[in-house]
This record gives sequence, C-alpha cells and structure tokens, in this order.
Amino acid sequence: MKTLYLIGFMGSGKSTVGKLLHQQLGVSHLDTDQMVVEKYGEIASIFQREGEKQFRNYETDMLTQIPESDYIVSTGGGIVEREENTLFMKNNGRIIHLNASFAEIEHRLGTDSKRPLWGKDRSEKFQLFQARNERYGELADITMETDGKSPQDIAAEILKSLSSM
Ligand code: S3P
Repeated sequence: MKTLYLIGFMGSGKSTVGKLLHQQLGVSHLDTDQMVVEKYGEIASIFQREGEKQFRNYETDMLTQIPESDYIVSTGGGIVEREENTLFMKNNGRIIHLNASFAEIEHRLGTDSKRPLWGKDRSEKFQLFQARNERYGELADITMETDGKSPQDIAAEILKSLSSM
C-alpha cells in the first residue's frame, strides 16, 4: 500500500484518525509532530527557543524520512507551508484532507495552549485557515468532510474511498 498522508488544519482529527487507520489497516503509524517532540522537545518550546523556521526544518526532516509504502502519516497543519513537503507527499503517496469548518475547529481546540499558532488573534487564525484550506484542497487525492462525524465514521469513510480507488 502507498503511504497515506493525512493533512488538514489544526484540530481536524489527523492524529486520532491516523491511529484508527493504523489499527484497521495493520500498517505502521507515524505523527510528524510526535516525532519532532520525541527528538527535540515540546513544540511550544521549540517555537519559543528556536523559532518557527527551525520547527519547520525539523518537521521536513521527519516527513522525508518516512518510507513511501505501508505507513499512515498524521502531519502537522503547517506541512503545506513548504513546497519540499508537498512535493514529497505528492510523489510518494496518497494525500487525504480532513476538512473541518472554522467553527468546528474553534469548538474542538478551545483555548489550547500547546499549539503556538492557535494563540494568535481570531482574525489571523481565520486568515490562516482560509489560506491553508485552499492548499489542502489543491493537494488532496481525497477530501473528507469531518464536521459532526466521529473519528470512527471518518476512518470508515476513508477506507471505503480507498477501496474504490
Ligand atoms: C501547526 C500545527 C500543529 C503543529 C504546530 C504548527 C501549524 O500540528 O505542527 O503547532 O502550523 O498549523 P496539528 O495540526 O497537529 O495541530
């Protein structure tokens, strides 16, 4: 199986759905944020100590180490910020966009403080959401609407779409 990359805005369910797909497909699961945390420490501290650019370097390093078959990869919401990342994913696997409305994301994330970019003004976050969503949509092989659905429902829908590809 070609590696599957889950992309989408913060709070769209990439990590939870990734774990479910891993259980159901029996292939390994990696989470680029988790890989960075294990190697370099908490994301908020990296942003504070070393800056966002360095976090992006770490993120690209992690992504590009992952084999092109038999992995489910939950990416960070900013993975689309670098063309190197998007080319890598496009060339190596299938890209699944977990789409959620801004209202749903706000509801899910609340006042989360682990995500440095979620601490910005509401208008800045909304702008980022709109710009990112355009990128996710352009890149994706499959876009899944996630509002009002459980992670189990979303994983089941993804499996169904994959079986008809
Ligand atoms: C980021 C999203 C986060 C994490 C970091 C930056 C972003 O991942 O990589 O805080 O730029 O959108 P999640 O999408 O898993 O929250």
